[in-house]
Amino acid sequence: MKILIAGGAGYIGSVVIPKVLDRGYEVEVVDLLWFGNNLPKGVKVHQKDIFDLTEKDVEGFDQVIFLAGLSNDPMAEFSPAKNFIANASSTAYLAYISKRAGVKRFIYAGSCSVYGYTVNELYDETKPASSNYPYGISKLQGEQAVIQMQDENFSVIAFRQGTVSGYSPRMRLDLIVNTMFKSALMNGEVIINNPSIWRPILAISDAANAYVRAIEAAPAISGIFNIASGNYTVGEVADYVKEAVDKKLGKNVKLNIKNVQDFRNYKVTSEKAMNMLSFKPAHNVESILEELIFNLDKFKDFDNPNYYNIQVFKTMG
Ligand SMILES: NC(=O)c1ccc[n+]([C@@H]2O[C@H](COP(=O)([O-])OP(=O)(O)OC[C@H]3O[C@@H](n4cnc5c(N)ncnc54)[C@H](O)[C@@H]3O)[C@@H](O)[C@H]2O)c1
Repeated sequence: MKILIAGGAGYIGSVVIPKVLDRGYEVEVVDLLWFGNNLPKGVKVHQKDIFDLTEKDVEGFDQVIFLAGLSNDPMAEFSPAKNFIANASSTAYLAYISKRAGVKRFIYAGSCSVYGYTVNELYDETKPASSNYPYGISKLQGEQAVIQMQDENFSVIAFRQGTVSGYSPRMRLDLIVNTMFKSALMNGEVIINNPSIWRPILAISDAANAYVRAIEAAPAISGIFNIASGNYTVGEVADYVKEAVDKKLGKNVKLNIKNVQDFRNYKVTSEKAMNMLSFKPAHNVESILEELIFNLDKFKDFDNPNYYNIQVFKTMG
């Protein structure tokens, strides 16, 4: 099977692709390489914008995975106008040419941020998605564009991913667990903007397994799937970070609670993905932290701007 992965050189793609290669599938990547290329040697990478692809470029691929676009709130808010093009239109365009080129399945990296601010109720995919901020709105637009294209010849699996965390060869330190871990080591302190806010957390290796499950799902399977390893309050994540760093790295981390209002608060169930895709999350915040500690030497240069999407994005103008 031949799979094209747009945005495959990013944080998630750099962990997904080795797993997909291990399964024996052929992979090609289209990526602007904003954060470089840390993919295994031998992966064919086309340094190209999704908008410069034509139907012909997508012909011959069995499946297409979308992992591109602007991948967090600060990037989306830096230029909301560009965000709607990057996140809503590029997804729609890629799915459109994929379907016309005869691709059989399209897998979309959506986000739980589409749920916006909920009131401490466990959300499944039937609950209303309502976000009032550029990132969440655009991720929902991308999802709606691809989902409405599904039919018997074009399966669409749209993930709503929790905040991904853990080690990737293309590292990000702007995602909750990774950020707190870095702050604990760099400043001896973890800042907790609001301890009572809920976040679904997705270990990056669970994310990679979810993509493999989606690739291998029966052709008739289509739909929207929440994907998370578990739900945590921000205060709880900070406690786990302090415990791991204190015990395993011999520090005495301070917790600094701010009580800042957050515009996102949600917890989700991944039951549908477990039942229909056989998605089995095997990780939690503790094992994510173990993985970060194990790989620490590979991303110890905490000031590297590549680890913070918004820093790179601002230099691009
Ligand atoms: N990381 C998370 O916590 C998370 C959570 C939910 C959803 N998502 C979604 O998952 C996807 C991947 O996230 P990530 O953390 O790997 O992001 P990332 O920022 O590390 O990677 C995105 C990649 O896409 C490429 N890219 C961006 N626009 C492109 C374009 N127009 N054409 C070609 N390449 C382009 C960039 O060069 C980069 O390599 C994103 O769509 C994001 O919105 C991420």
